[in-house]
Amino acid sequence: MATAERSTLLGVFEAIGDRNHEEIVFGNDPVSGLRSIIAIHSTTLGPALGGTRFYPYPSEDEALEDVLRLSQGMTRKAAAAGLDLGGGKAVIIGDPRRDKSERLWRAYGRVVDSLRGRYITAEDVGTDTMDMETIRRETRWVVGIPIEEGGSGDPSPATARGVVAATRAAAEFRWGSDDLSRKTVAILGVGKVGTYLAQRYTDLGARVIAADVSPPALERAVARFGVEPVGIDEILDVECDILAPCSLGSVFDEKTIPRLKCELIVGAANNQLTTEDDADRLAERDILYAPDFVANAGGLINVSEEIRGYSPERAAARIDKVYHNMCHVLKAAKDKGITPNAAAVEWADRRIGEIGNLRLFRRSGDDRN
Ligand SMILES: NC(=O)c1ccc[n+]([C@@H]2O[C@H](COP(=O)([O-])OP(=O)(O)OC[C@H]3O[C@@H](n4cnc5c(N)ncnc54)[C@H](O)[C@@H]3O)[C@@H](O)[C@H]2O)c1
Repeated sequence: MATAERSTLLGVFEAIGDRNHEEIVFGNDPVSGLRSIIAIHSTTLGPALGGTRFYPYPSEDEALEDVLRLSQGMTRKAAAAGLDLGGGKAVIIGDPRRDKSERLWRAYGRVVDSLRGRYITAEDVGTDTMDMETIRRETRWVVGIPIEEGGSGDPSPATARGVVAATRAAAEFRWGSDDLSRKTVAILGVGKVGTYLAQRYTDLGARVIAADVSPPALERAVARFGVEPVGIDEILDVECDILAPCSLGSVFDEKTIPRLKCELIVGAANNQLTTEDDADRLAERDILYAPDFVANAGGLINVSEEIRGYSPERAAARIDKVYHNMCHVLKAAKDKGITPNAAAVEWADRRIGEIGNLRLFRRSGDDRN
């Protein structure tokens, strides 16, 4: 083996570290320029489901780190949502506005298909339902298909529905009532999920304040739902009942937490806490933080319903169960005297251990699973 090759391979295992990923698959198609990485973190509870992110990563190392981090998060999200699914994620290195083609998607579909269902893909940042439809021409292991093609479509409305269910649970826990009609909600990021969330909250009668780095996105939310716009530098200082981060991760750290003037944090963004210490910092300030991976599972629950044939009614009923999941986590945190984040991680990891262990119970002499 050449030295260069050896050092690359060692780099991958080094990057995995102690995160225990099962398998990393690199896809390469020189004709279309496809360069993809699929990371299967865990299939303990079921096939690893997670979206494909199309992003112009500055380096392969950054693409690898992102897919390793995101796939690990999917394992916990699926476990806490009570799904029979594991955690996986994929990234494609490239510019989604320039580099997509039928050939690329079909080549990628063949890479996904080669995993024979160990990994199921879906849309994510930089990909959409039409891309999933093209992938489906090569593999059945894809969800998030357009509604007109019999799929569940864009997961964002489902994610917003789940966030509201999670907020109701947190409100009940905090204020003894899940009525959100007279609350003030500050939404950080009115993209796909943030917009649906603004709509839900204004429909409920809540006062909604919002900020976004994209002026057109903010203007649309103002025009459509009458949200009150503020600058992105001000949104964390706004006096409100509920803060809903719906943009990027790492919103909360030692600098931002002292500025907050909210009682609850419940939003869609992944990885809102910069470090685990931030959960303690929020608790010290008596701010109730609803763990992101429990609150934002609505989209995952929705697409997972496609695996057995999508029914909007059944999907909605299942998404609403995020309310009970959040109640469980908040109660466990209180009973054990730990942060909600720690309680959610403990709960997800326990389910993976207990239910994954079932496979040791042999069902027949032929059972080798
Ligand atoms: N779409 C889903 O169903 C879903 C499901 C689970 C989790 N999430 C997470 O929720 C978040 C939002 O997802 P989305 O699909 O709505 O994405 P999106 O790209 O449609 O929206 C993000 C919005 O945030 C804005 N933004 C970016 N940086 C910002 C900043 N620094 N300050 C303020 N605004 C900023 C963008 O302009 C955009 O309007 C992401 O973290 C995503 O990973 C989304």
